[in-house]
Amino acid sequence: MTFSDHPIETPVRPGSPVHGFGTLAVHAGSPHDPSTGAVIEPISLSTTFAQRAVGEPVGAFEYSRSSNPNRENFEKAVAALEHAKYALAFSSGSATTAVILQSLAAGSHVISISDVYGGTHRYFTQVAKAHGVKVTFTPEIESDIVRQITPDTKLVWIETPSNPTLRLVDIRAVATQAHQHGILVVVDNTFLSPYVQNPLDHGADIVVHSVTKYINGHSDVVMGVAAFNSDEMKQRLSFLQNAIGAVPSAFDSWLAHRGLKTLHLRAREASTNATVVAAALEASPHVIAVNYPGAESHPHREIAKKQHRNGMGGGMLSFRIKGGKSAAEKFCQATTIYTLAESLGGVESLVEVPSSMTHAGIPKDQREAVGVFDDLVRLSCGVEDAQDLKNDVLQALEKAVVWPKITNGLNGISGPA
Ligand SMILES: Cc1ncc(COP(=O)(O)O)c(C=O)c1O
Repeated sequence: MTFSDHPIETPVRPGSPVHGFGTLAVHAGSPHDPSTGAVIEPISLSTTFAQRAVGEPVGAFEYSRSSNPNRENFEKAVAALEHAKYALAFSSGSATTAVILQSLAAGSHVISISDVYGGTHRYFTQVAKAHGVKVTFTPEIESDIVRQITPDTKLVWIETPSNPTLRLVDIRAVATQAHQHGILVVVDNTFLSPYVQNPLDHGADIVVHSVTKYINGHSDVVMGVAAFNSDEMKQRLSFLQNAIGAVPSAFDSWLAHRGLKTLHLRAREASTNATVVAAALEASPHVIAVNYPGAESHPHREIAKKQHRNGMGGGMLSFRIKGGKSAAEKFCQATTIYTLAESLGGVESLVEVPSSMTHAGIPKDQREAVGVFDDLVRLSCGVEDAQDLKNDVLQALEKAVVWPKITNGLNGISGPA
């Protein structure tokens, strides 16, 4: 038997994939083209599909906004990797968030962790309330959830790890409490990818991703996805996917599916690299603190060991640099391999200052309450060589922290630009 005879679809039952992650990543949702035998699926650009008679399409498709072969194959692959029955793809991670929030009735209440991604915070505070959904934020959701619940609470929104402080949430602890009140739990799994963490296995009801990040992995597609097990949710969210129309193109679906096939290789390498870089930062006298869930020093390390594959830390980390905002900015300009840019999860390493970039929209007092200070630098470790990334970070620290001090102390003597 070969995969071409029996293409791997979703797992036999949710939560019990019959194949390992790498095998599913390569083969799930990837049938060989029955007419040509093409091993890689063709890109199906047609917006519409012929019908034999009125209401009798030739195949499974009618119109590309409603469904498309490339989108459907990608959705099957993500469902398999997230141990879900269903997945639905959207035009961005933000569109995925919007559709889930719009699935709630007016008057609904949502509880979110405080340090959510800035765009999610913007949607929660500036858009959701326009259609009557109220969101409250809490920094300690495991202990605070019961106090936050009201009769209108319908959803809990978690990011674990959170962006950019890499705090972890015990999904099982939150889901157990939420389910006692009939509340659904959504986990944004963007920072780890399905390779490192499968939130549905820990009790979440919906897992969402900005596919733009690790799942696509090559910084050339903006896309989102939600995966879940409930048939009722499938009906509701598919309806909104079609009615709102925030769907990815066939080409983007094809590219993201191609990226997904190497997710396990990229996620492993990125995690190894981040571990090396985090250790180098922790040992540096120029660093105040490092946030990395793979480090034994991380306050939620025990959650990482329970929730992450082999206790891996993932490819993301952040750290506070000595010298404040100006040192943070100098650091980002001094790196030569890490590129100063927003986003994360690509094969190339990126660096940014969240307080002035990705999280600039969150008021300063709220930011700082959850640890997003002006001196916080966020690193997305790519798949370059660990030693090169470590050397890059160490030389940038010298330029950002040490040489400016020498310049200040000794008039006329300056370090390199
Ligand atoms: C954790 C997280 N969730 C959601 C999003 C939004 O995704 P997108 O940019 O694809 O809309 C991002 C974007 O950076 C993110 O970091």
